Amino acid sequence: MRNKNDKQLVVGLDIGTSKVVAIVGEYEPGEPIEIIGIGTHVSRGMKRGSVVDIESTVHSIQRAVEEAELMAGCDIRSVYASISGSHLETRNSHGTAAIRDREVMAADLEQVLEAASAVAIPADRKVLYKESQEYRIDGQDGIRHPVGMSGVRLEASVHLVTGAASAVQNISKCIQRCGLSVDELVPAAVASAKAVLTEDELELGVCLVDIGAGTTDIAIYTQGAIRHTKSLPVGGDQVTNDIAYGVHTPTAHAEEIKIKYACALAQLAHAEETIQVPSVGDRPPRRLARQALAQSVQARYEEIFEMVQDELRRSGYESLVAAGIVLTGGASRMEGALELAEEIFHKMVRIGVPQHVSGLGDVVSSELHSTGVGLLLHGSRSSGASRNTSSAAGNVGSVVEKFRSWFTKNF
Ligand SMILES: Nc1ncnc2c1ncn2[C@@H]1O[C@H](COP(=O)(O)OP(=O)(O)OP(=O)(O)O)[C@@H](O)[C@H]1O
Ligand SMILES: [Mg+2]
Repeated sequence: MRNKNDKQLVVGLDIGTSKVVAIVGEYEPGEPIEIIGIGTHVSRGMKRGSVVDIESTVHSIQRAVEEAELMAGCDIRSVYASISGSHLETRNSHGTAAIRDREVMAADLEQVLEAASAVAIPADRKVLYKESQEYRIDGQDGIRHPVGMSGVRLEASVHLVTGAASAVQNISKCIQRCGLSVDELVPAAVASAKAVLTEDELELGVCLVDIGAGTTDIAIYTQGAIRHTKSLPVGGDQVTNDIAYGVHTPTAHAEEIKIKYACALAQLAHAEETIQVPSVGDRPPRRLARQALAQSVQARYEEIFEMVQDELRRSGYESLVAAGIVLTGGASRMEGALELAEEIFHKMVRIGVPQHVSGLGDVVSSELHSTGVGLLLHGSRSSGASRNTSSAAGNVGSVVEKFRSWFTKNF
């Protein structure tokens, strides 16, 4: 039997516009991650993926992390966190490095990634994420796993995501104010893609679309590598606002009506179906045709999908995503969203939920948790690599260990 203490622990913190989720996973290299704790709290300090209220965001993170700690029976010290918002920009870059011992090691990969990231960017922006696409050794290209290969010159093409320095600082500040350190900030779309996409899709070419409350995050992959990412400032919140303004009802009721009765294809609602809508103030409730509700929701979803399609065209990869579109995120749960997306994109569409995890897998097997689970998967792969190169300690300590060290210090 495996000893629990020998296992690595990793924490994903998804700071979304509608909710903050902390997920704790436990794993042994090469084995699926087991989810051992999850904490979630409503998020009020974020708008369209960016921090607009530090105190409120700190509070939400604290609550989510405390709940996850309690369930997992551990003390969380550092997290892989999501970042989103229209300030994110991407570019593909290229780097070269000498292979020090004539055989590629993890340190050479680090070096070539660093070289590719040394691009000229304005002072108010910073590179926050980098992921290799392909390697080339002494002119031989198309290499995906260069470690162990012989050669003298290593080249890499790398996907870089940059962000506005202030937005990056704000999100880091919120996490640090909770006494946590940031292992890495990962774009939400990249994290979600790691949780929901299959190897075949990555290989064939696919566009991942995570429709959240405040942002719609896109990640495009072809030939097994990331090619393009984008965060659009649209999402489910706008659908809720349309309903609130359209039928003159408070936002909380509009959200409830949306989840219970709305659909993104007007033809799915019968003409004679009606629903009861609470009014503002002490006016009496009214009845509304469900089809009228569906028409307004459909118009907003059409707009979101058309924005995604424009981005897909602009990226130049539209004809290369043979595996089609994978929708995820809370707003992808809307009835009729998949069918509407098929009509607009003229491609295969499926709804993706997190895979590749066990333990509380059922709890996180929801479109809402794609980013959180993806952060864990990314963290487990990165920390595995860093353990080989440095003495990186686990990011979670057991309560017993913490108590023991406190006891030793104080008595
Ligand atoms: N069953 C459902 N039908 C329609 N919409 C839904 C459903 N469940 C959740 N949503 C919507 O999904 C959105 C929340 O999704 P999610 O939790 O993925 O967002 P988030 O990660 O907090 O935000 P973001 O990623 O934009 O920062 C809300 O707008 C909510 O109304
Ligand atoms: Mg999200």
